[in-house]
Amino acid sequence: MILKGGKIVKNGRVEKKDVRISGKYIAEIGDNIDDSANESVYDVKGCLIIPGAVDVHGHLREPGFEYKETIATGTYSAAAGGITTVMAMPNTNPAVDSVEHYNDVKARIERDAVISVYPFGAVTCGEKGIELADIEGLINKVKGFSDDGAGFENLKLLKRAMELIKGKSIIASHAEAKEYNDSREAEYKAVERELALVKETGCKYHFCHISCAESFELIERAQKSGLDVTCEVTPHHLFMDEDMIKNNPNFKMAPPLRSRDDREATVNALLKGVATVIATDHAPHSDEEKARAYEDAPNGIIGFETMLPLVYTKLIRTGVADISDMINWCVINPAERFNLPYSTIDVGQIADIAVLDIEREREYLRNDIVSKSHNSPYISEKLFGFNKLTIKQGKVIYRY
Ligand code: DOR
Ligand code: ZN
Ligand code: ZN
Repeated sequence: MILKGGKIVKNGRVEKKDVRISGKYIAEIGDNIDDSANESVYDVKGCLIIPGAVDVHGHLREPGFEYKETIATGTYSAAAGGITTVMAMPNTNPAVDSVEHYNDVKARIERDAVISVYPFGAVTCGEKGIELADIEGLINKVKGFSDDGAGFENLKLLKRAMELIKGKSIIASHAEAKEYNDSREAEYKAVERELALVKETGCKYHFCHISCAESFELIERAQKSGLDVTCEVTPHHLFMDEDMIKNNPNFKMAPPLRSRDDREATVNALLKGVATVIATDHAPHSDEEKARAYEDAPNGIIGFETMLPLVYTKLIRTGVADISDMINWCVINPAERFNLPYSTIDVGQIADIAVLDIEREREYLRNDIVSKSHNSPYISEKLFGFNKLTIKQGKVIYRY
């Protein structure tokens, strides 16, 4: 297969190149690759050819909540967004808290996933925070542990988990100390007390969806002191704030949209390198659940299909950052932090590729959504850089 007329990024520069893929691999990158041989040719004129994105925070909902999403629909939604690798959060039913539950999810992934999926192991049984999951049984199978959706309340238990995981894996924390009524305080107080335990134990640690200025300050200080700590930010906390909620459940998530100052702190943390990862927190919920009154609707928005166009439109096209930054935040940094394979656009690499239509603006329509759920705050938003072609291990898995 040949991708004709696209652009790639080489040493920070955007260059017009054709890309030929043979089997699973990128076989040739050149100025005018001969396409007269009997191969499939894709006209990608003006589009940006990048490595498939690596999203280290998604909810695929299977098993247990298949009415929201399944491994089949969720991975296809990711593919539509140009994401070729996802780490799946374990707040399923059952949770991924034992080798048996892990093996069940793994079999489903092998059967139904169209992209690479790495399930997180839960830190505690059922993510209930009462007893530890089978961390020792899971540690050589999963790429990380998380109780996402729930914060750690039992710090003794968390410390024990850190001791087991230290030197072998990583914890991804949903930092929320529920006893603080103020939700900003709930985040940064949780960050603060978890950092104290990271300092004691030396466990490799990652904070999910950080959204408050104070949290970034604490994390930056911890990084400067030498702790092995990273954090991710989401597109919604980068590009939306609380003024946009207007009681619409499609703007409701945990952590919630924050003030303008926090939003600016989120962007600055990314630009400064305190946050090194952008992750979606793709959290599908059914139409019925999101049609409830704001207070009764569950937290979460879908995000696989809009991450790359949002980042492209709001940070790259505006000149705030460049395309290499986007590739670092959405591909390389998340993959390296969680020890996952990823591709680069080079001869000999596995062809995991997204093709972004950066010259055309498109309105994101409800009908375009391929996730099983539709809880997106971005419906009707006009964006550049939607993905139009996804290749996984040399095979076309999505085409717009
Ligand atoms: O908004 C969220 N949705 N935040 C979480 O932490 C959990 C997630 C979910 O599972 O729906
Ligand atoms: Zn979370
Ligand atoms: Zn989440």
